[in-house]
Formats: sequence, structure tokens, C-alpha cells
Amino acid sequence: MNVLVTGGAGYIGSHTCLELLNSGYNVIVVDNLCNSNPKSLERVKALTNKDIKFYEGDVRDEALMCRIFTENEIDCVIHFAGLKAVGESVAMPLEYYDNNLNSSLVLTKVMRKFKKQNLIFSSSATVYTADNEMPLRETSRTGYCTNPYGWSKYMSEQIFSGLAAADENWSICLLRYFNPIGAHDSGLIGEDPRGIPNNLMPYITQVAIGRRERLSVYGNDYDTHDGTGVRDYIHVVDLAKGHVAAVKYATEHKGCEVFNLGTGTGYSVLDMVHAFVEANGVDVPYVIADRRPGDIATCYADPSKSAEVLGWKAEKNLQDMCRDSWNWQSKNPQGYGE
Ligand code: NAD
Ligand code: UD1
Repeated sequence: MNVLVTGGAGYIGSHTCLELLNSGYNVIVVDNLCNSNPKSLERVKALTNKDIKFYEGDVRDEALMCRIFTENEIDCVIHFAGLKAVGESVAMPLEYYDNNLNSSLVLTKVMRKFKKQNLIFSSSATVYTADNEMPLRETSRTGYCTNPYGWSKYMSEQIFSGLAAADENWSICLLRYFNPIGAHDSGLIGEDPRGIPNNLMPYITQVAIGRRERLSVYGNDYDTHDGTGVRDYIHVVDLAKGHVAAVKYATEHKGCEVFNLGTGTGYSVLDMVHAFVEANGVDVPYVIADRRPGDIATCYADPSKSAEVLGWKAEKNLQDMCRDSWNWQSKNPQGYGE
């Protein structure tokens, strides 16, 4: 079975390509490399001893997408391609809406034309409104996003669910990720953020390696067990395996389904720092800073629907996540850039 992975050279995409290849799927990638390095795919090929057919280009390029569907029999598409930095989306809303919405529109137009209508989409826990009770279920309230990135995910979900409602040939899984961290245990692929990391774990690893002086902990006066923000961190390899389960599901069922991909357990910022220090025996100096605007106190998933319907459950624990994040960072101090 052939799976087209858009954005397959990126952080989650490269780990998913590896799990797909290890599960016996053939993998075709389209990526414009705007936020990734082709070394990731070379390393996935080396790790699996299997080939990946790579098209360098933009998912918004309809002619290219038609060529890919003409040259390959595509059984399922996983759509990762998109821009993902929340702060940048506030500064560059047009670029975010253009990339994230037009890629979804062009992709589905071409899929419909070629009658290849099995799709897995990278959505995010960011589509849930801030006033929900925890844990978040797939039926929890969505919308009222606080930034263009979040809206682009919300609107893409609307586009996809509308398509499935209008045409019974679609089979679509909307996967809402919680907080992916960690790396493949080989230390050969991992997250390689450009510039100063926005997210917690890459910031911690860059402090530990000496690229940043100290971590700023954004607020210690939240209503949580130690006052710092609580999130549902999920190992990227578990997340990648969730995509393999979703591909199987989408090729066997019609319609549109939403799934949370999280662990169901929340950890605070200080829990993460302490676990990282303990797992790796390194120092992570930190200071308590002001709250980051837009942050909420607590966010974690109810992943039971994914367990029941997809037969998928996160298996790795906090120690695995901290160890594998550090293994990647310490083996690749400058990411893929060396
Ligand atoms: P990433 O930036 O590492 O990967 C995205 C890939 O898509 C990159 O390789 C980039 O070059 C490519 N790309 C972007 N626009 C493209 C386009 N128009 N055409 C072709 N390729 C394009 O990001 P990631 O962390 O792997 O995230 C993958 C997806 O999951 C994204 O859609 C992101 O919004 C979503 N997501 C990520 C997180 C997270 O915390 N990492 C959380 C929730 C959802
Ligand atoms: C971020 C995104 C969200 C996305 C999610 C999953 C923002 C505002 N939101 O959310 O859209 O779906 O990632 O990838 O970027 N923290 C610090 N110091 C730091 C960095 C973070 O204390 O230097 C804290 C934050 O305040 C938060 C926690 O660590 O409590 C996690 O932050 P982060 O990794 O940015 O993820 P989210 O805020 O959950």
C-alpha cells in the first residue's frame, strides 16, 4: 500500500515515514523543505534500509500534485505540510492562511479528481476552546482560537468534515495532537527548530547543551500542583504509530472522525525540568518569568476514543521522552545543520 506524506521531511513527518516503512507501507513524500532538511529522509532510509520517493515542491502547486497522483497509485495521504509557529502566525497571518488553507484545498481537489479520498490530517489540541473542562474529549468545545495558526487548523477541520458530509467517498481522520516531544531512539532524527525555540522541550535541550543560558518558566502562579503550566506531552514515536493506526482505519472506513492523540497525563513545566535533569544527569538552569500571553493553566487529553476505535495507545513514559530528546540533541548539537 502506498502512502503519500506531505511535509514528510519535518519533525513528525520523518518519524511517521519511519514507522510506515517499518509497517510495510511504501512511502512517497512531498515537501518544499521550508522548515526541514532532506537529511531527515536520508536518515530514515538508512534506519529502515528502505527507499522513499521524494518530490521537492509545494502542496499548493496543483500541477505538481497532479503529477504525483499520475505517477503513483496513492492509497492514503497523510497531510503534515504546513506552518506551525504560533507567534509567527500572529505576525504573518496571510502567509499562514495561504499555506495552511491553500495546501488543504489544493490537496483535496486533486485527491477528488483522482478518486483517491483517504486522508489523515495533522490537527492540534489548539482547536479546543480555553474554557473546556479537562480532560479534553473529541466532543469538547472548539473554536475561538487565539491566533491565525489555530484558526487555520480549525478551518481546515471544517473544510475536511464538510467534504466528508457532502461526498460519501471520503474517508478522513482529523488527528488532534497534544504536545509532541522526544525523538527516535537512534538519535538520528529529531526536532530541529529554526531560531529560538518557542516550545518547552527544545528550549530545555538547548539550555542543557549550552546553546541558551537558562530556561524561563512562564509563570508559577497557575492553579496547578506547583503553579506552573500543565500539558500532555506525547513521545513523537508514539504519535507516529498513531498515524499508522489511522491509515489502517481510514482505508477500512468511510466518513470523517476526530481523534485525540495524547497520553491522558499532564505534567507541569517544573515536572519536565526535574524529570529531564534526573533522566540525563545534566543541569537545566531556570528562572521564573511572567506568564506567556495566551497560555492556559492546564491542557490534557482523554485518549480513550483512539484506544477504542484505532486500537492505539501511547506507550512511552516521561523518562523515555526526556532521554530520547537529550539523545537527539547531544548527538546533533546543531540539529541537522552540521
Ligand atoms: P515541521 O515544520 O517539522 O514539518 C512540516 C513540514 O511541512 C516541513 O518539512 C516543511 O518544510 C513542510 N511544508 C510546509 N509547508 C509546505 C508546503 N506548502 N508544501 C510542502 N511542504 C511544506 O512541523 P511538525 O512539528 O512536524 O508538524 C507537522 C504538522 O503537525 C503541522 O501541520 C503542524 O501544524 C501539526 N502539529 C504540530 C504540532 C507540534 O507541536 N509539532 C502540534 C500540533 C499539530
Ligand atoms: C504550543 C502552541 C500550541 C500547539 C502546542 C503543541 C503556543 C502559544 N501554543 O502550546 O498551539 O498546539 O504547542 O505543540 O505556542 N514554557 C515555558 N518556557 C518556555 C516554553 C514553554 O515555561 O520557554 C511553558 C509554557 O508556558 C507551557 C508549557 O511550557 O506551560 C508548554 O509550552 P509549549 O511547548 O510552547 O506548548 P503549548 O503552550 O502547550
